[in-house]
Amino acid sequence: MKLPAHGANPTHLLEALGLEQTNHALDFSVNINPLGPPAILKTVWHELYQHISGYPDPNARELRDLISQETGLKSTQILAGNGAAELIQLLARFLTGSEVLVVDPTFSEYASSCKSLHCRIESFALSEKERWQLRADLILPHLQGKRALFLCHPNNPTGAIYSYSEILKLIQGAQKAGVMVIIDEAFYDFCENDITVAPLVKLYKNLIVLRSLTKMYAIAGIRLGYLLADEQVINKLKACQPQWSVNALAQSIGKMCIQDQEHRKTTVDYIAQERDRVTTRLRELDYVISDSSVNYFLFRDRKKQRLDHLIVYLIKNGVIPRHTANFITLDNQYLRFSIKMKEENDQLLAILEKWRYDSFVDKRV
Ligand SMILES: Cc1ncc(COP(=O)(O)O)c(C=O)c1O
Repeated sequence: MKLPAHGANPTHLLEALGLEQTNHALDFSVNINPLGPPAILKTVWHELYQHISGYPDPNARELRDLISQETGLKSTQILAGNGAAELIQLLARFLTGSEVLVVDPTFSEYASSCKSLHCRIESFALSEKERWQLRADLILPHLQGKRALFLCHPNNPTGAIYSYSEILKLIQGAQKAGVMVIIDEAFYDFCENDITVAPLVKLYKNLIVLRSLTKMYAIAGIRLGYLLADEQVINKLKACQPQWSVNALAQSIGKMCIQDQEHRKTTVDYIAQERDRVTTRLRELDYVISDSSVNYFLFRDRKKQRLDHLIVYLIKNGVIPRHTANFITLDNQYLRFSIKMKEENDQLLAILEKWRYDSFVDKRV
């Protein structure tokens, strides 16, 4: 059975499982802002039309200037991309044929993009036993012979954040070993506290920070991300990027999103409150839940080894979970759920409560 590699694709998931298609299921596999895009986008939608005839600025200068103000980095240290996914592919091209280390379980695109460019991948596995936390002293010996290390922070799928000092030790150790550290901050803006390492790009030439506007601003269909790195790295990556990669709508919309701090703040407050409510209830029901700082969490049923039955049960009850079959080391013993609107979260809680009860009554499920 070949399950889809990413969430947000219920049709494909149901097809792979041989289940009837439905338009009514709640998609908890998609981990973007449940409040949707900033309201301003609707009001300016007609004005955006004027941008579609001309070519976009190939250097996305205005957008990069804004990011420069936000991050305190020079605009020459910023590269905009057609989603973070394009930038991961560009990085993989930069790393062609080399050895890379990936801290797992994590977003599968690092390994798949690098593999497509003939890299050898070593996986360093974090564990539930260690609360999905990382220790630099355990990872550093694995950097021997590697060209790059991929770290997702906050991590997808656990939602875990790591101690600043451990990350700093990794960057410093990697610098000594001549290894690039690529930190994906696609979800950093969902955290209540500032966890970014972007300012360290000024100090460490081996550090690359990746970001996406997809998640916080719910603009997955627009495709916009950016990368922060030393100027020489930016130039090399830019040389491989197709011309006009970031379209005109993405550039305009990106500027509006970055300036809408209110939307971000409202989202962070909402997510923190709902995540706390949902995860507290699930723990009361004796499920194992990761300590998440963002808009999704990892879930395990300590009473079941594998969750294939639960996936089908959820779908039949109108909820699409994110399977974990393609997250290295998770092997469908876990599911990932996003935080959605309150009533939707209530539906998830009700179904998982029923599953807990049903599995007591009927040992077969
Ligand atoms: C950790 C992480 N990084 C990057 C991406 C890709 O983001 P984008 O939509 O900007 O390509 C995703 C998408 O799921 C993700 O989860």
